[in-house]
Amino acid sequence: MAQTDIAPPPERQSSLSWRLWNLDWEKILPWSFEEVTVVSAHFDDALPFMTEHYARIFGTESNEGRFLSSPLTEAKRRFSAETDVFLFQVAARTVGLFMAHPSDWSTYYMRTAALLPEYRGRHLVSRFMERICEPLREAGVERLCGDVSPANTPMMKLHVGQGFLVTSIANSERWGSCVHFTKFLRQEADAVFRHQFCNSPPLNRSASPSPERSSS
Ligand SMILES: CC(C)(COP(=O)(O)OP(=O)(O)OC[C@H]1O[C@@H](n2cnc3c(N)ncnc32)[C@H](O)[C@@H]1OP(=O)(O)O)[C@@H](O)C(=O)NCCC(=O)NCCS
Repeated sequence: MAQTDIAPPPERQSSLSWRLWNLDWEKILPWSFEEVTVVSAHFDDALPFMTEHYARIFGTESNEGRFLSSPLTEAKRRFSAETDVFLFQVAARTVGLFMAHPSDWSTYYMRTAALLPEYRGRHLVSRFMERICEPLREAGVERLCGDVSPANTPMMKLHVGQGFLVTSIANSERWGSCVHFTKFLRQEADAVFRHQFCNSPPLNRSASPSPERSSS
């Protein structure tokens, strides 16, 4: 097929996952989880939610400066414009978001996820993360990664429950102590890592969602 046949509209050409992997999330989504619909969007669509809710969600309202702050510079905006943005919406109102981007040619990095408090604890993000694995795998992506504060119990449980393995730990001036999680999308890579570094047999859990976690 000629390149011109598969090129997305110009506003989507800046997405790094499109350029590397031809991943067109707008064709793959929307997905629904009960009354919540997840749509593919752009960073500018996420900004109002971030501006209104992020300081409260992440406890940075008092701006106490525990970590190095990261203002929205032009470079940060351009970088963010390259990321994939997924909005969780109820009747067109944004109630949460998820952002991720390639960090190399075979790795998808999850940068941020946040839901309004009343939408948490319903496995919305777990189900979404489970669902993105298949399109990523089909596109040739080999691993899904993210950094999580070990004090963030829901995120820790979510990653372990989704079959992620701890592949490193790190301390930084930006986010403090973080656990680096990896979910291997190639069985062979998962087996190699477990054999080398994990003193535990793999769990034989079904990859398919349980009925109460189903989506459409
Ligand atoms: C982290 C967050 C995105 C998770 O989304 P979610 O859809 O609520 O997650 P889930 O409902 O799948 O919950 C994940 C696990 O944490 C558990 N959990 C949820 N809230 C919890 C709490 N307050 N204490 C302990 N466990 C909790 C859930 O029971 C689930 O575990 P299970 O699968 O064993 O039942 C959401 O809680 C949030 O927006 N938090 C604030 C922002 C944040 O911390 N973002 C992550 C850093 S970028």
